[in-house]
Amino acid sequence: MITNSSHTSAIDSWRSRPAAQQPDWPDHEELDQVAAHLKNAPPLVYAAECDRLRDQLGAVARGEAFLLQGGDCAETFAGNTAPAVEGKLRTLLQMAVVLTHGSSLPVVKVGRLAGQYAKPRSSGTEVREGMALPSYRGDAVNGHAFTEADRRPDPQRLRTMYEASTTTLNLVRAFMTGGGADLSLVHRWNQGFLEGTPAVGRYERIAGEIDRALAFMRACGVDPGALHATEMYASHEGLLLDYEAALTRVEPETGLAYATSGHLVWIGERTRDLDGAHVEYFSRISNPVAVKLGPTATPDTVLALSERLNPDQIPGRLTFVVRMGAEKVRDLLPDLVGKVAAEGLVVPWVCDPMHGNTFTASTGHKTRHFDDVLNEVAGFFEVHRSLGTHPGGLHMELTGDDVTECLGGGYNLEADDLCLRYETACDPRLNHSQSLDVAFLVAEMLRNHRR
Ligand code: TRP
Ligand code: MN
Repeated sequence: MITNSSHTSAIDSWRSRPAAQQPDWPDHEELDQVAAHLKNAPPLVYAAECDRLRDQLGAVARGEAFLLQGGDCAETFAGNTAPAVEGKLRTLLQMAVVLTHGSSLPVVKVGRLAGQYAKPRSSGTEVREGMALPSYRGDAVNGHAFTEADRRPDPQRLRTMYEASTTTLNLVRAFMTGGGADLSLVHRWNQGFLEGTPAVGRYERIAGEIDRALAFMRACGVDPGALHATEMYASHEGLLLDYEAALTRVEPETGLAYATSGHLVWIGERTRDLDGAHVEYFSRISNPVAVKLGPTATPDTVLALSERLNPDQIPGRLTFVVRMGAEKVRDLLPDLVGKVAAEGLVVPWVCDPMHGNTFTASTGHKTRHFDDVLNEVAGFFEVHRSLGTHPGGLHMELTGDDVTECLGGGYNLEADDLCLRYETACDPRLNHSQSLDVAFLVAEMLRNHRR
């Protein structure tokens, strides 16, 4: 049994460290009131679920499973509707089916949802036509509109974030076990959804093969119970430490602290300072955690992060998500993966092919090209092939809606198309059809990798 003081330290030790990317809350008394409310709120997730995900990520690390993690760059309160969430879930499940079918590996499904409401920004203020206002830091902090009222950080938004996350996660749980993920209905996931998209033919073929395999198993007298439901875990960037700390709970039997805001939380590229508050907080919780690694990450930093966040080398406790960019991944990744392997560390390596490939189109829209996204994934696979390590997963920014935010893909979207449906609150996301295209191509890479 752990004493009360280490219980407090799990929740508060980060406060003595520099915390990057925190909002400038104008009213600290109000922040304290909201935090006090959240401290008594029910947890969104249980420790045992987090442990199960950690063990499944251990299987990813050993090359026995593949991770699919995806969702919006930034969730919004207004975007938290049943059709939008269901669209994301269907997209992720369809991708998971394609990947499972193509690779014959179990796919661990993790949504970037039910808590992805806070964004790090390159600058604390935004200037438009001579007027400076606080930058938009996600719906958890302030509003998107460029007005003084909207941009003022409002602690009540943390409460709304918690409530929105519970409704999303409730829908996820109901969808996954209530029939929405039933593989014997995989054809029906299409209705009014994929019609006329380039991926539809290939997807229909896989659905047909799954139907035949299920019919075969039934004929053999096997009841494929595991096929009627699946698990989808919730993840988000654990950016706002006041929020995460308020939702941290200590397990009475073990004395271990867990972030109960989601199953997996990650540290962003901008907040992974070894002496900073984020690494300190994350070192005190027992959830599976991930760290984003960009082009400036050195092997020494990566090994030091592993020592700080996973000193006992528990498989699946720490995942590295690399976002190097298509141009750099082949040059920069081998050293990181090689040195980590040389230390005997077995970790899931996950490819985020989105964040290193962002540019501004001629129309002024922030965008990414499908070909660059795919090229980074291909480079990621090549590096792992040459080192004999496992390309463990994908981390994607995507939506189930037919938005026009990224270029290329089956429909070959062009710069002039971006204005048609550009709806993201932050970074550009792959639309439904582009996401399925990625899944087909990555399934093929995985199959070849394992040959
Ligand atoms: N339970 C299995 C799994 O999670 C099979 C399964 C059921 C499945 N529904 C699914 C797989 C939807 C992918 C997508 O893998
Ligand atoms: Mn993003």
